[in-house]
Amino acid sequence: MDKILIEGGAPLRGTVRVSGAKNAALPVVAAALLAEGDHVVRNVPDLADVRTMGRLLGHAGCTFERVAGSPAAVVVRTPRSVNPEAPYELVRTMRASVLVLGPMLSRWGRARVSLPGGCAIGARPIDQHLKALTALGAELTLAHGYVEGRVPRGRLRGTTFTFDKETVTGTENVMMAAALAEGRTVLENCAREPEVGDLAAALVRMGAHIEGAGTQRIVIDGVDSLSGLDHDVIPDRIEAGTFLVVGALPRNEVTVAGALPDHMEALVEKLRLAGATVEEVPGGIRVAGPDRPRPVDVRTAPFPGFPTDMQAQMMVLLALADGSSVIKETVFENRFMHVLELERLGAEIAVDGKVAVVKGVPALSGAPVMASDLRASAALVLAGLAAQGTTEVRRVYHLDRGYERIEAKLEPLGARIRRVTA
Ligand code: EPZ
Repeated sequence: MDKILIEGGAPLRGTVRVSGAKNAALPVVAAALLAEGDHVVRNVPDLADVRTMGRLLGHAGCTFERVAGSPAAVVVRTPRSVNPEAPYELVRTMRASVLVLGPMLSRWGRARVSLPGGCAIGARPIDQHLKALTALGAELTLAHGYVEGRVPRGRLRGTTFTFDKETVTGTENVMMAAALAEGRTVLENCAREPEVGDLAAALVRMGAHIEGAGTQRIVIDGVDSLSGLDHDVIPDRIEAGTFLVVGALPRNEVTVAGALPDHMEALVEKLRLAGATVEEVPGGIRVAGPDRPRPVDVRTAPFPGFPTDMQAQMMVLLALADGSSVIKETVFENRFMHVLELERLGAEIAVDGKVAVVKGVPALSGAPVMASDLRASAALVLAGLAAQGTTEVRRVYHLDRGYERIEAKLEPLGARIRRVTA
């Protein structure tokens, strides 16, 4: 297993470019199941999760290839009929695999998708996905760890459905299913994340009739068939946010090229409250860190609130503040695994259920630490950059799920960082 070694304390300066959004690319690539023929998706990050989605489509009978000469583009070829199945050995490595369920049911009237199983940050149920697909006329049974789905009347039928809670992939799964259903579907209490809007834009380009994506009410008028994808994925607002926090660390100054300000308002507001200077520049966002951050209280929430995927990274900045900050994690039930590792680096954090009180310290000190989930591992890298001395981050396969060669992006800023392949 690879690990990342960091010699912390170097002031970081310069520009880093954001890749395409993992959490937009995954549903958009899954949408290729909705139409026979060739699909082109550009600005697709080269990540472990994207490769897993490619393998899932391959298992179903599609081809999934990177375009020679333009590495951020992929071509997917979907046959007339597929093997509508997502096997456990693939699904267990990536929860987003559930995104093939809606398209398979909608286009072929049947699907066999493994239940995702547990996850480090929480139970991650898919009850909302299943409830909504059932409302559209699917018959779903859970057997031997799989969701077995069929559509007795042959085609899903539009309906009105209200999600009990906002779910990003739930909204995406059902939007894709409704795109080929008969009649109108009205979805209430939808997730408003930019990735939902990006998927809707891709589906509309395929010929779907979708209004309201990005708001809590989405209306989909089903069509009989769709044409091929031709889509450029939006920039990754969480990767961008991670680099903004790098720039907000003491005495750093970083320009994040490709970051879209209107995707990051909640984070930018908190960085400014912490004393960072954040300004929009042509083509991106520049951030400069204070000598010492100020304490800031943070409460995660669905978009447009402060993103749960930025909670661990923000905690690193606040661990160095000249006071105490209160962080409340409202989206997932167990998303503080990074706390114990940050304490190994000298942070002072008290966790009580969904609340963490971060008592800022003047400096962190390097140590070996263990990554536990995708965003926690990013936080450990950030902490290593700020800490005095050497930090060794182990199990970086978690990091590679969501960050495209992060060490290659940070090194030009002056970071003393390298990957060691064990
Ligand atoms: C998406 O996960 C993202 N993944 C996650 O990013 C992100 O943390 C999360 O949204 C929240 O923003 C992708 O888009 C591939 P949810 P998702 O359904 O869709 C509960 C990363 O770091 N819930 O919005 O799985 C759920 O347990 C990943 O890239 C139900 O109860 O999240 C959670 O508490 C981590 N029933 C809350 O809703 C359901 O049927 C939000 O989950 C579905 C979800």
